[in-house]
Amino acid sequence: MSGVTYEYMETYLRKLIPEKQGVLKELEEFAHNNAVPIVQKETAQFLELMINMKKPKRILELGTAIGYSSILMCLSSNMQAKITTVERDEKMIELAKENIQKYKLDNNIEIIKGECLDALSNMKDTFDFIFIDAGKGHYNHFLPHCLRMLNKEGVIVADNVLFRGMVASDELVKRRKITIVKRMREYLNMINDKEFLTSTIPMGDGIAVTVRRNENE
Ligand SMILES: C[S@@+](CC[C@H](N)C(=O)[O-])C[C@H]1O[C@@H](n2cnc3c(N)ncnc32)[C@H](O)[C@@H]1O
Repeated sequence: MSGVTYEYMETYLRKLIPEKQGVLKELEEFAHNNAVPIVQKETAQFLELMINMKKPKRILELGTAIGYSSILMCLSSNMQAKITTVERDEKMIELAKENIQKYKLDNNIEIIKGECLDALSNMKDTFDFIFIDAGKGHYNHFLPHCLRMLNKEGVIVADNVLFRGMVASDELVKRRKITIVKRMREYLNMINDKEFLTSTIPMGDGIAVTVRRNENE
């Protein structure tokens, strides 16, 4: 039970999604066998859909892990997107680099080594699409930087915002996760401010999609 949706629903919806092929499939297997937390199947599908619809040229990702979602987004953009992705774990960075090379995407995907908050503080680029998937207890701290760098028509997608259901129900909160839950709730309050248009979707571990409202709304 994910705590976010019904198990039968998740199982059914996952079965509808076509199997990945080639290296992406290998990466899914590697992640599964080595307990590397990559995006869930339906979240991956949702990201592909967003990239197809939005056609971003510049993407920022927080949380590279083995490079699965970076590669996925780059392929979805038909190699038109340049991706900057931030990761602090050296072992993950090595694996991600190898995987990115397998697809010859070195010119499309740049990995920044370090803490997301430090990397964000030093960044001056602008992005059309930002995918937040690291530092679950810091989304509220990442947001001002993400907004500073988000283009007018840009989109922020944040994964794990319902955090196994704990964010929606105090009864599910584990003691050692209280800070993450509090800060994630703060993130959700921030992006549901009237300045923004946000849809929070109980899919995977919870996804929040945010854009700036246009001036007439
Ligand atoms: C959920 S995984 C990312 C999965 C990846 N987006 C995918 O779906 O293929 C989160 C990654 O973020 C990294 N991470 C966690 N907190 C971080 C932080 N504060 N700064 C930088 N990296 C962080 C972890 O080492 C981990 O590899």
